[in-house]
Amino acid sequence: MAYQSGFGLPANVLFDTERARRLFSKKWFFAGTRGDVPRPRDYFTFEIFNDDLMLVHGSDGKIRCFVNRCAHQSAKILKSNTGTSSASLVCPNHQWSYSIDSGALRGAAIMGADFIKSDLGSSSALHSLPVREVAGLLFVCLGEQADDSDMTEIESILGPYIDDFGLAKGGYKLAHHYREIVPANWLQVMVNNRECFHCQLNHKGLLNLFDPSSFNAMSSPGYEALFAAAVQRWESLDLPWKEQAFNLNDSCRVARYPLKDGFKSITFDGQYASKKLIGGWQDYDASTLSIWLNPNAWVHFVSDHIATNWVLPIDEKTSMMYSSWIVHEDAVEGEDYDLDHLTEVWRVTNAEDVHLCNSMTRGAMSSYYKPGPFADAEQFCKQFCDWYMKYSG
Ligand code: FES
Ligand SMILES: [Fe+2]
Repeated sequence: MAYQSGFGLPANVLFDTERARRLFSKKWFFAGTRGDVPRPRDYFTFEIFNDDLMLVHGSDGKIRCFVNRCAHQSAKILKSNTGTSSASLVCPNHQWSYSIDSGALRGAAIMGADFIKSDLGSSSALHSLPVREVAGLLFVCLGEQADDSDMTEIESILGPYIDDFGLAKGGYKLAHHYREIVPANWLQVMVNNRECFHCQLNHKGLLNLFDPSSFNAMSSPGYEALFAAAVQRWESLDLPWKEQAFNLNDSCRVARYPLKDGFKSITFDGQYASKKLIGGWQDYDASTLSIWLNPNAWVHFVSDHIATNWVLPIDEKTSMMYSSWIVHEDAVEGEDYDLDHLTEVWRVTNAEDVHLCNSMTRGAMSSYYKPGPFADAEQFCKQFCDWYMKYSG
């Protein structure tokens, strides 16, 4: 079935992993932030299709991406999701070891003393993939020829909004990381993320914090008053607040939203999530600075933490959802923040979304499936599908 703009994606597109691989080979995708790997030797592992990859913070401060598979017998080198490596990356199988800065083979005792100096030894490095860092956001591409214009665009659109958080300079720590294999097609996870009309019935908790008009770029008298008061506050602090939304070619959207009156952070009880403020904030602000990135992420910056969410395909019907909660590096668990309290809103909300996405994936597998039309107000779903069709062909 052919794709029709303004409708959902047909099953032959949703379940076409070759098409998805083409996209991830020519477009930069979100793979975390510097807050996921804040110190030298910190690593973060992730999966896309059948590939196991790792981000590693090098001794020179640069963050690189390597295939997380040994050049000897392809065992997985780093088994944890996050952590700090020893001085070299050591395969747990027969202890071949690799430089964290270049992926070059450093040791392979079982091969004999001369092996690493041999041609075969020097060609036995970890395979590396290109990484771009924009304002502390990390992007990876499976191909070598990704067009950097997306990075320039993201930097120029998002930079003025997120530079205050200084993610690129460090000063953060990963308070918590959560990931889950979800029984849902990754494109349907993204389409679900691009609208909040499902929020009314499915995210009752989230709607204690947010007016539903906010995420949907809609308007209502109550929300307009809340927004006007927030704009006054932001302007007095010289903070940019105008929404910049996707057009067909754009890779990102940014918006600043008020939380409901009295809320200090993205928590169900409205209390602060961490005692240590970030991003230049001198006090808690009832607002979030939110960004959405094509093809695979959405991030919320508030005055005391950053919550990142992203999805990557495993196969046509299965995805991995990643979420990180990043706080001030001096914030101490148990004193400055409570992990359950800090993570609760997105843990609960994402679990609610997983049910919806699974339901949509099962629907798309049905022999009766036919893509349905988007409402005009579901403009960001249409944008996502148009964008995907344009760049994945
Ligand atoms: S598989 Fe890694 S050292 Fe053998
Ligand atoms: Fe949702």
